[in-house]
Amino acid sequence: MACASSLGLLMLAAVVSTATAQLSATFYDTSCPSAMSIIKSGVTAAVNNERRMGASLLRLHFHDCFVQGCDASVLLAGNERNAGPNLSLRGFGVIDSIKTQVEAACKQTVSCADILAVAARDSVVALGGPSWSVPLGRRDSLGAATATQVINSLPPSTDSLAQLISAYASKGLSATDLVALSGAHTIGVARCRGFRTRLYNDTNINSAFATALQANCPRATGSGDGNLAPLDTTTPSAFDNAYFTNLLSQKGLLHSDQELFNGGSTDSTGRSFACSAAAFGSAFATAMVKMGNIAPLTGTQGQIRLSCSAANS
Ligand code: HEM
Repeated sequence: MACASSLGLLMLAAVVSTATAQLSATFYDTSCPSAMSIIKSGVTAAVNNERRMGASLLRLHFHDCFVQGCDASVLLAGNERNAGPNLSLRGFGVIDSIKTQVEAACKQTVSCADILAVAARDSVVALGGPSWSVPLGRRDSLGAATATQVINSLPPSTDSLAQLISAYASKGLSATDLVALSGAHTIGVARCRGFRTRLYNDTNINSAFATALQANCPRATGSGDGNLAPLDTTTPSAFDNAYFTNLLSQKGLLHSDQELFNGGSTDSTGRSFACSAAAFGSAFATAMVKMGNIAPLTGTQGQIRLSCSAANS
């Protein structure tokens, strides 16, 4: 693979503005100075217990932010959590247990939405990825979104590049953010039902890769639907840039993954991330801050929940 210098890209990432509304990285410095270390210990213990949990916590933050903003609505038991795209979410128990510990240290001070944003960052770090400063001060929603809102807000993996770019644009995220954030698929797994069509119908897939996966993901719908495969076949539990080198050899697991490197406008970004882990890490951190800033509740909006899975009574 021919890699051009990534210096330009790195400098660009450094000057990209990360406008953060009213959020601030020092929000709890006085009101709950131990919050950050409690969250970090909780995430580290959970990831040490099961590496995949880091991926699950990162995905939870994405599904929170894209539906009704980063307001912890995804954590509420009910319609939003039970919507199709959210059924395979995991990590609720880890967040609940961290929240219990944070509440014991500082009563009704730290929001579930902020705990989730910090847990996503700490998960990435625990798996060897980049770190960044998380702007804080989000408050929690009073209610959950509907199943329809979930379906309309989260792009399906059958989307084309144009559809993905437009879904991200509607959240204020650029095509570069789309490629960088999709790099989250360097960790974690997907179920056969989400990549079956790609294995049997897509033509932009490495044939040996497809054949190997077909063994555990039969063609017939309903058969092996829940069988799991790593999103990054090379280094499944390390947060690195192998997701992008996989795309270059047509080994993206999801249709939407390979769309990012399929002869279109995002090819050059994918190639630069495959060439430079540092360029990817920097763009990922920038994009995570932008994603974490989608429509937060601040000031007197919403509430600080006592328990992350239920609104205060
Ligand atoms: C571009 C649009 C995206 C699509 C279409 C998409 C789709 C998917 C699908 C289908 C799965 C597997 C779910 C299952 O089978 O249970 C998955 C898993 C995952 N996604 Fe995405 N995703 C997207 C963007 C993102 C973003 C922006 C992030 C985080 C920043 C993310 C993080 C993850 C992680 C970490 C997993 C693995 C979770 C686990 O192992 O528990 N995804 N995604």
